[in-house]
Amino acid sequence: MRIEELDTPAVIVDWDVMQENIRSLADYCLKHGIGLRPHTKTHKIPAIAKMQIQAGCQGITVAKVGEAEVMAAAGLEDILIAYPVLGTSKLERLAKLARDRKITVGVDSMEAIEGISQVGRRADSHISILIEFDMGMQRCGLQSPEALVSMARNVEKLPGVRFAGIMFYPGHIWDLPPDQLPALLKVSQKVREIREKLRQHGLECEVVSGGSTPTAYNSHLVQGITEIRAGTYVFYDMNEAGVQACKLSQCALKVLVTVISNAVEGKAMIDGGSKTFSGDRLISGDKTGFGYITEHPEIKFVSMSEEHGHLDLGLSSHKPSVGEKLSIIPNHVCACVNMHDQIYYHRKGIVEGMWTVEGRGKVR
Ligand SMILES: Cc1ncc(COP(=O)(O)O)c(C=O)c1O
Repeated sequence: MRIEELDTPAVIVDWDVMQENIRSLADYCLKHGIGLRPHTKTHKIPAIAKMQIQAGCQGITVAKVGEAEVMAAAGLEDILIAYPVLGTSKLERLAKLARDRKITVGVDSMEAIEGISQVGRRADSHISILIEFDMGMQRCGLQSPEALVSMARNVEKLPGVRFAGIMFYPGHIWDLPPDQLPALLKVSQKVREIREKLRQHGLECEVVSGGSTPTAYNSHLVQGITEIRAGTYVFYDMNEAGVQACKLSQCALKVLVTVISNAVEGKAMIDGGSKTFSGDRLISGDKTGFGYITEHPEIKFVSMSEEHGHLDLGLSSHKPSVGEKLSIIPNHVCACVNMHDQIYYHRKGIVEGMWTVEGRGKVR
C-alpha cells in the first residue's frame, strides 16, 4: 500500500530517514567517546528503543515510571528515569523494576531520595541516583555545587541507594549550533566545578548525564560529559529545524491529512487539529504556524480547532481540492506522537508496517 492510501489523519515515519538519524548521532557519540542514552519520550515505542540500542546506545531514558514499565516489559535492560519518583505507588513499582534490571533515577530532593532509599533497602538492592543540577533552564535541579555535594554526601549515608553522578538538561539552549559555544562553555565550567567539589569530599562522579537535541552535535564541548539524552533527534520536527538542529529532509515523521473543506474563501480545512498535532506552538524560527506543509510550503497552517486544521491560502496559487492529501511536519513531534495509538512506517512511500505507541498516556 502507498502512504497516500492510508486513512487519515495518519502519522507516518520514513524508515530510512529515521535510521539515518539514529545512526548519525550514534556515530558522533562513538567518535567523541560519549555515551548515548536517548530519551524515548519522543517515540514511546519499544521497537525503536531497541533499534537505538542496536546502533550503539548504552541504555535509554524515560520520564515516567509507566514508560519505564513499558520499555522493561519489552526487554530494555538499562533505564534512566530522568524524573523524580515520589509516592508509595510509584516507589513500589520502581522497586519491582529495579529487581531485574539496571534502574537509575534523576532527582533533586531528599524527599525523593529517602523514598527510593526505603524501597531499595527493602529489596536488598542499590538503586543508582543521579542528582540533577540546573544549568539555566530553571525547571528542576539544584542551584549550587555546594547543595549538590551536600545531597550526594547524604545519599552515601543512606541504604538502598548509590550516588552515581549528576544529571542536567540544557533545555534553555536554543541558539543555532554555531552560536552555542558560550552557553556550553558555561555548562562545561559548572560541570568541572561540581566534579572538583565532589572529589574534594571523596565522591566519585561516575556519570555526567546531559544533552538535548539542539545541542546534540556540540556535546563534546562539555568536558567530562559521559552520556547525552537527546530524544527528539530520532524524528526531528519544526522546532528543531527552526534552530537548524536539522534540515527539513531529516524530519522523519509527518502527519498525513486530508483536505475536508475549501468552502470558505482563502481557506482550506484539514482533518487534523489540536487532537492530532497537539496544541504546541512553534518556539523557534519565525514562531508562527502549527506545522510545515511539505507539498505546498506557501500554504500556511495558521490555526487549529480540536479536529480542524485551518490553512491560509493567501500566498498560494494552489487551491487544494476536497479529498486532497497533504503531509505535514509537526512543530513538536513528541507531543504529536503522544496523541496517536499507531504510527505507520514506510520506505520510499510504500507502507511497510505499523507500531503501537505503547508508552502513550503513561503519565504516572
Ligand atoms: C530531562 C530530559 N532529558 C532529555 C530530554 C531530551 O531532549 P530533546 O527533546 O532536546 O531531545 C528531555 C526533553 O524534554 C528532558 O526533559
